Amino acid sequence: MASITIRQLDESLKKQLRLRAASHGRSMEDEVRTILRAAAGPTEVTRPAARRNLPAPATFVTPTGAIATRQILLIIGGGIAAYKSLDLIRRLRERRMTVRCILTAAAQEFITALSASALSGERVFTDLFDTGSEFDVGHIRLARDADAIVVAPATADLMAKMAGGHADDLASAVLLATNRPILLAPAMNPAMWARGATQRNLARLIEDGVVTVGPNAGEMAEQGEAGVGRMAEPLDIAAAVEALLDKTLMGQALMDQAGERPLLGKRMIVTSGPTHEPIDPVRYIANRSSGRQGHAIAAAAAAAGAEVTLVSGPVNVPDPQGVRIVKVETAREMFEAVEAALPADCAVFAAAVADWRVATPGREKIKKQKGKTPPLTLIENPDILATIAHRKAQRPTLVIGFAAETENVIPNAKAKLVRKGCDWIVANDVSPQTGIMGGETNSVHLITAGGVESWPPQSKTDVAQALLLRIASALAGDKV
Ligand code: C5P
Repeated sequence: MASITIRQLDESLKKQLRLRAASHGRSMEDEVRTILRAAAGPTEVTRPAARRNLPAPATFVTPTGAIATRQILLIIGGGIAAYKSLDLIRRLRERRMTVRCILTAAAQEFITALSASALSGERVFTDLFDTGSEFDVGHIRLARDADAIVVAPATADLMAKMAGGHADDLASAVLLATNRPILLAPAMNPAMWARGATQRNLARLIEDGVVTVGPNAGEMAEQGEAGVGRMAEPLDIAAAVEALLDKTLMGQALMDQAGERPLLGKRMIVTSGPTHEPIDPVRYIANRSSGRQGHAIAAAAAAAGAEVTLVSGPVNVPDPQGVRIVKVETAREMFEAVEAALPADCAVFAAAVADWRVATPGREKIKKQKGKTPPLTLIENPDILATIAHRKAQRPTLVIGFAAETENVIPNAKAKLVRKGCDWIVANDVSPQTGIMGGETNSVHLITAGGVESWPPQSKTDVAQALLLRIASALAGDKV
């Protein structure tokens, strides 16, 4: 049987493998095994029990090899919303996360440690001075073992303690001792939420890097009370936890791979999403672009330390954290926003810009007339990529275009590289059977002056990470 070692792989494959492995927290060898296992079909695997007498949580390898179990430390504060945190435990476990809980003294007035333990399948921690748990686990280990810490409900008091750096109970001591990302789901009476002290504490916590989800507006559990202060719904908190972990992984992978924040001090422009070209005030021409790939690139660039301007057409995906977003509708607005964002070291044009617009959109809604169709004259939109790539002044060092093709993907993309005057083209096959347009995964070819590289099918986040590493190397002057 033929055998091959990682050392024999070419440098670019090794780089991609190192990145994937880092982002999944696996060794390179394990990553290869996972990819091979996934290629042979979806497989269920189990991980060795992390602690004595506890069942090991199941992890599943998807066809892209992308899922691993994550440890969440859930701190439940003392509020009526604590009952929703029991549902949150289930939601997190459904997402294959293991959940350890800390209940504050006040939380135990609302729910019991027994119910949290039954739902999480883990021991629940309540006391800083419980010698049993201090010897066994200890608050420092609780603070550091987790991949992320979630505080739900985050009461006004817990937030004040965190902002002030208090450590007089287990929850606050863990929050002070941790170096892990923290997500808060605040919940309190609307008057308490609106109070200057709470808002000052919130501002300080956000400055410290804490992320929040909610609170929402609506009826409060207390009779007759309504306003902003309801804890976010468990499903929304679970989604925020996933987003936080993705972002952390991405930043970590980039740092592991290329050293501290490889794009620090670099300016990047990314376009994303479709454009909408008006026919009249209510109708428009559009396309199926979701913005997922462009947004993932902007997020990866920000995680790598770049100062990012994301110029986005209308999309339904969440705004990435840490980037300046300019939201536009039409191709001409996108063009203006890109020009205004110059100078930049690198520009990535991932938007699916409409090639044409209606020459004279109706000022009023065009009325339907029996037997008549309105004459729509189309005129060409500015080609943002080609114009920026051909600029004499303020041309970004690296200009990258995307090519969505439905046939002859590589020859068409190579021709596009020349025609548009850009440095690289990321080409993908978007024929309907691929499911790429609007989907979660992407299978791309990187076309540079040096040749064509075909990357394995992977999530749009993984494509973004791999592309960012290449961008970082190119801007650092490496041969790419
Ligand atoms: O010509 P085509 O639309 O296939 O080219 C795709 C690439 O050009 C993408 O990078 C897209 O963002 C960019 N583009 C642009 N302005 C246009 C049309 C396309 O920036 N008007």
